[in-house]
Amino acid sequence: MANPAQQAVSVLGSTGSIGLSTLDVIARHPDRYRVFALAANTSVAAMAAQCRTHRPEFAVMACADAAQALRDALPGELGTQVLQGEEGLCRVATDPAVDAVMAAVVGAAGLPSTLAAARAGKRLLLANKESLVMAGHLLMEAVHESGALLLPIDSEHNAIFQCLPVDRAGRPGRAGVDKVLLTASGGPFRTWSVAQMAAATPEQACAHPNWDMGRKISVDSATLMNKGLEFIEACWLFDLAPERVDVVVHPQSIVHSMVQYRDGSVLAQLGNPDMRTPIAYGLSWPERVDAGVSPLDLVAASRLDFEAPDEGRFPCLRLAREAVSAGGTAMAICNAANEVAVAAFLDNRIGFNDIPAVIERTLERCPVVEPRSLAVVETADAEARHAAEVFVADGPTRGSAGVEI
Ligand SMILES: NC(=O)c1ccc[n+]([C@@H]2O[C@H](COP(=O)([O-])OP(=O)(O)OC[C@H]3O[C@@H](n4cnc5c(N)ncnc54)[C@H](OP(=O)(O)O)[C@@H]3O)[C@@H](O)[C@H]2O)c1
Repeated sequence: MANPAQQAVSVLGSTGSIGLSTLDVIARHPDRYRVFALAANTSVAAMAAQCRTHRPEFAVMACADAAQALRDALPGELGTQVLQGEEGLCRVATDPAVDAVMAAVVGAAGLPSTLAAARAGKRLLLANKESLVMAGHLLMEAVHESGALLLPIDSEHNAIFQCLPVDRAGRPGRAGVDKVLLTASGGPFRTWSVAQMAAATPEQACAHPNWDMGRKISVDSATLMNKGLEFIEACWLFDLAPERVDVVVHPQSIVHSMVQYRDGSVLAQLGNPDMRTPIAYGLSWPERVDAGVSPLDLVAASRLDFEAPDEGRFPCLRLAREAVSAGGTAMAICNAANEVAVAAFLDNRIGFNDIPAVIERTLERCPVVEPRSLAVVETADAEARHAAEVFVADGPTRGSAGVEI
């Protein structure tokens, strides 16, 4: 029997890094939260174990085979109904019984359900930054029209949200804000030369110095495309012109981002690098709950360093900036090309330095149009994926991204 005092939460991408951290926070507060639905791609065994622990009303798998395998694996008395595909994801993102949706599917596959949750006016915990990058205009419009509560889960945007002034309605405003300063760890290759990066392996790229994350976002951190995507995300989330978003490399990942005010003040949010902090904040805002994160020991941390990003060695940041300037579907094209290039790199089909080259060639090749609807965005995404696959198949080239490959 559902307890009305508990928030019912759908966790989309529950078997991933963010999904696991979300379930950890939820399990610490059974009086406040219950799992309404879980969703994953193909990890049937992990999903079956999560269903036994959290006893959701629904579990969603991406394809029919995985859904059937999950039905076979679950004891009937559990009562969990198994759904499949995008339709299943959208169903559990919009069900009237759902209070909050954790959007933590990786990549473009997360867009339709994220948009559906926004349109349904949910408390939307946004980890899937690709949704905002691809369809920022549509997503923000849906949030404003439905009155959805959009809470950023990316640690940087969550930090900015925490450092912004609060308006009369208790929501973050922009009074007196000059700029936001997005911090970047610099990734595992922060001090590597271009030649060293040319020989980088997927394992090296995924070995992030501070954060334990999924493989796609780990590679994005290594190329700095993660910061490029976050730059785009910040413009949409906080309605800021690109020149009001700066990127600062901060190798310790303790300052999660900052807001610079007109009076010279800079407010920062600090904490140990653990995604359970922004997740707990998103679940409990405007209150705060225990996230299971150890307190920050500033004396042990001892120093906080800051440096400018090197866009010569890391052209992805420049490419993301250029996509923002181009507007329209350029950001969706950039995102799609990046997803294809990262998958090819993880598959050992291209080298690390081929990633920006594939993105740049795709951006040059694909026409940019106004992203008036989800269908337009999805068409741009599909065309860009096709173009990027062709460039991947072409093999290593000298890209105009300024990187020798
Ligand atoms: N990890 C972090 O610290 C972090 C920080 C900030 C933002 N983010 C963002 O959060 C999102 C998730 O990142 P992650 O690191 O948690 O990724 P991850 O560990 O790779 O997990 C991805 C999750 O998405 C599921 N999934 C993939 N395709 C799907 C589909 N078509 N339908 C349903 N589920 C699908 C996966 O299921 P399977 O297990 O079955 O493959 C898995 O549960 C990304 O957008 C990322 O940029 C992550």
